[in-house]
Amino acid sequence: MGFVIAVDGPAASGKGTIAVKLGALYGYPVLDSGLLYRAVGVKVLERGQDLGDEAAALAAARSLDPAELEQPRVRTRAAGEAASRVAVYSPVRQALREFQQVFATREPGAVIDGRDIGTVIAPDAPAKLYVTATPETRAQRRWKQLTGQGEAVSFEDILADIRVRDERDSARADSPMTMAADAVLLDTTEMTIDAAFDAARRIVETARSRWETTQG
Ligand code: DC
Repeated sequence: MGFVIAVDGPAASGKGTIAVKLGALYGYPVLDSGLLYRAVGVKVLERGQDLGDEAAALAAARSLDPAELEQPRVRTRAAGEAASRVAVYSPVRQALREFQQVFATREPGAVIDGRDIGTVIAPDAPAKLYVTATPETRAQRRWKQLTGQGEAVSFEDILADIRVRDERDSARADSPMTMAADAVLLDTTEMTIDAAFDAARRIVETARSRWETTQG
């Protein structure tokens, strides 16, 4: 394994932005693992199937094409909700695991953001961040993003979504959203994007120095 940076945390915590910026800084590929679950949810809906149908979600996960992660519709509010619904099924998580674990073997390193990267996908990752912020701050950020994409949504509805998602992602039997014991917590509530990235960069640099001493 190269220098894998695991960036976990709840919806709209800033982890995606931080992951992309870390990838650019080190020249590493970045995987937003939430897109995998979003693409599965979108596929189930587009096939006219029910998100409560585990077999349908598994079939969608098994037939996923990485090109489907690029579609704009995976970034909508409905896709986020659908993702959280299909993510509760263990077989769906299993089906998406290999793709993420292969990505984690990219040399000289990789950045992956999600909910269970530091705990399940890459438990040996040398750098782990757990990025969080209050539900209100996260809802404000997500509302700005969605209205910027042209979606007509209210702040209250987004805040309600965030609370439901947090609850569902944390209560999951398989790979619940939780901070790895060796992750560093980064609360971005009071931070600008630049300040959050700067703090993340310092955490990763410390991890990198430690990791370099272990490399032959
Ligand atoms: O990070 P995001 O909002 O795009 O994630 C959408 C949903 O996908 C999230 O509510 C739960 C699920 N997810 C997951 O279960 N595990 C991951 N590693 C990433 C996302």
